[in-house]
Amino acid sequence: MLGRTLHEEKTLPRESSIVLATLSELRAHAPAIFGQAVLGEDGFLLRKERIDGTDCLVVTGTTDRGVLYGVFALLSRIARGETVSALNETQQPYAPIRWVDEWDNLDGRIERGYAGPSIFFENGNVRADLTRAGEYARLLASIGINGCAINNVNANPRILEDDFLPQVARVADVFRPWGVRLSLSVDVSSPKVIGGLDTFDPRDPRVAEWWKKKFDQLYALVPDFAGVVVKADSEGRLGPATYQRTPADAANVIARALAPHHGIVFYRAFVYNHHLDWTSPKNDRAKAAYDNFHPLDGKFDDNVIVQIKHGPIDFQVREPASPLFSGLDKTNEAIELQVTQEYTGQQRHLCFLPTMWKQVLDFDMHAGPQPTPVKDIVSGKTFDRPTGGFVAVVNVGMDANWLGHPLGMANLYGYGRLAWNPDLDSKVIAEEWTRLTFGNDSTVVRTIQSMLVSSWTVYESYTGPLGAGTLTDIVGSHFGPGVESSERNGWGQWHRADPGGIGMDRTAATGTGYVDQYRAPVRKMYESLDTTPDELLLFFHHVPYTYVLGSGKTVIQHIYDSHYAGAQLAAGFVNQWKTLKGHVDEERYEEVLGRLEFQAGHAIVWRDAVCNWFLGISGIADQYGRVGHYPGRIEAEAMQLEGYVPFDVVPRETASGGKAIECLPSEQKCSATYRFAGAAGRYEIDVEYFDQNNGKSHFRVFVRDRVVDEWVADDRLPATKPGGDSSTRRRIPGLALRPGDNIRIEGVPDGEEHAALDYIEIHATPE
Ligand code: GCU
Repeated sequence: MLGRTLHEEKTLPRESSIVLATLSELRAHAPAIFGQAVLGEDGFLLRKERIDGTDCLVVTGTTDRGVLYGVFALLSRIARGETVSALNETQQPYAPIRWVDEWDNLDGRIERGYAGPSIFFENGNVRADLTRAGEYARLLASIGINGCAINNVNANPRILEDDFLPQVARVADVFRPWGVRLSLSVDVSSPKVIGGLDTFDPRDPRVAEWWKKKFDQLYALVPDFAGVVVKADSEGRLGPATYQRTPADAANVIARALAPHHGIVFYRAFVYNHHLDWTSPKNDRAKAAYDNFHPLDGKFDDNVIVQIKHGPIDFQVREPASPLFSGLDKTNEAIELQVTQEYTGQQRHLCFLPTMWKQVLDFDMHAGPQPTPVKDIVSGKTFDRPTGGFVAVVNVGMDANWLGHPLGMANLYGYGRLAWNPDLDSKVIAEEWTRLTFGNDSTVVRTIQSMLVSSWTVYESYTGPLGAGTLTDIVGSHFGPGVESSERNGWGQWHRADPGGIGMDRTAATGTGYVDQYRAPVRKMYESLDTTPDELLLFFHHVPYTYVLGSGKTVIQHIYDSHYAGAQLAAGFVNQWKTLKGHVDEERYEEVLGRLEFQAGHAIVWRDAVCNWFLGISGIADQYGRVGHYPGRIEAEAMQLEGYVPFDVVPRETASGGKAIECLPSEQKCSATYRFAGAAGRYEIDVEYFDQNNGKSHFRVFVRDRVVDEWVADDRLPATKPGGDSSTRRRIPGLALRPGDNIRIEGVPDGEEHAALDYIEIHATPE
């Protein structure tokens, strides 16, 4: 930046310089200035100083890692156009644990990853070229992250096999320059599956010995190995329950093998029965973490951290803070957040999550006489625990922008910033990220910041009302609408919608008793309908559709209104972004625009599916007559068809009128025609089609036999059939139509994808 050559010096410089050094190095050379400075682990100090008569900009920390963080903080200031002339800033991270988990499989696929294949693994081995992994470590260091577990929590035991360990050591080598320590997810059955023992009982001395030898072997290759993540007795994973042992038994046997090397165990509290009997009104998956772990408080070794998802279910669009945070006074805790947007739009929808995370981090669990927000409990402050902090599931991939949506990276940045300092305002984080990513043009900063800041509640408004959970296909992709998929099965993500009302009664008086897991003031708030905040109403209570909210609206009208408003706001993002043409580089402009246009179309799919489903079950009409009535919409099955045949879409609410048309492979090509009968003028035609990932159908749209648009349906959406995951909108603006014009859509199927069409919509646009 300054056009100067850097030197490594053993003494302080005699000319004006930027000095990077650890505090102990500085103390030795300039005791008068730095003798009093105190910094904890990973902290740093940025200071303008006059040393021996020369002006210096000093970046220092207790450790090299702290110095590195200081350098990134300095660069960030410069990039955001802040002054560095009178610097005197000390920063200390909130908690020692600031980690990320990646759910990468050894074959290179990533569970719940939306940005291409793994940067670590390929075809069952660690990648030969780890350049991207090294770049990722630099990226993590720039936001203060100091640990990374590189493989799926649904761990393949092979990761610990003798011949695999040197491979993971190569990842540690590319992480090390950036102060990121390697961690692995391990399968507790490893001693049996790869170790040749006939048991993995955590109380069996042979099992203890196996773990000990395994980690001795690993530390010989990776001396700074950070520790392991454990998912056990969860979603079909084996665990200590096999031997009637507890999570504490399983955690401790591994922890004792790691302890001599100062390694830690993250034992995930995500332990629940996914074959829960849905017919019992007392059953409640939300209770599982507390039920399983609270009785074990005090039984975990000091190098065990219980890793708790921020809410009691599973990264839904809105959940209350997990009651387990205030249920472990004697145990280290970490909060688990999710950067990869599994239930929040999979990086196809804009959803800035720091706003949501802040609600949980700042939530007072009332675990002591002073306020005890979640951020203080997990960082070990409240109960004075030796360690703890923050973990996020990130799932970056080989795609150029790491997460798939260029604006999705704001979530990773925001996670790092909050793990460093959870007191930061999410608006400030959004602004910082925008400046660092797109520069300091004030139009750009204002626009992107405002889009980011509103995006979570916009997403929530068309996907998961009033704490009911994300109304998505919970047994499949977790992406598009699938309102009923969570009901009547063992997964326990029930919202209990029936003709009379909706919501899970989790009260102590009449429900599952979940509220009893909170401390008294929190319990009292959620037990009563009057004091439960409306945005979590259906998480805690079952109410009739006619129940009146604080806003004065009934629950059912709120569902309708919020979905219409949300879809409109999503369309607004496209317009907001368009004001930035010419202000951001063309490549990212187009890429973001494409994602936002998809979102705007998909928000309509969501809106219609959810509203129609609730209209059906409640039998209560939308006060404004919108639901079920779509001006300008022509159902594909009502068009004049050649080759195309109608079929029923399942679930029915994921297609307009429950039906669509398809062109079976026996046909080369099919067409659907509509004779326009409106007034002459300018129109936009929207074509709602189904873009699956098992074929690349071709579409052409003709007006008066002239092609006005054509495209290939080759997106990588998580869908192999027509429905809420694949429904996609193509907008064809600026068409001149006259009465009697034929609008014809031609579809050419490919593979399993049958060029399916749901409807077209014709809207007049201003001249
Ligand atoms: C969710 C997710 C799974 C994941 C699990 C976990 O249920 O859908 O893919 O394995 O969380 O956190 O372990």
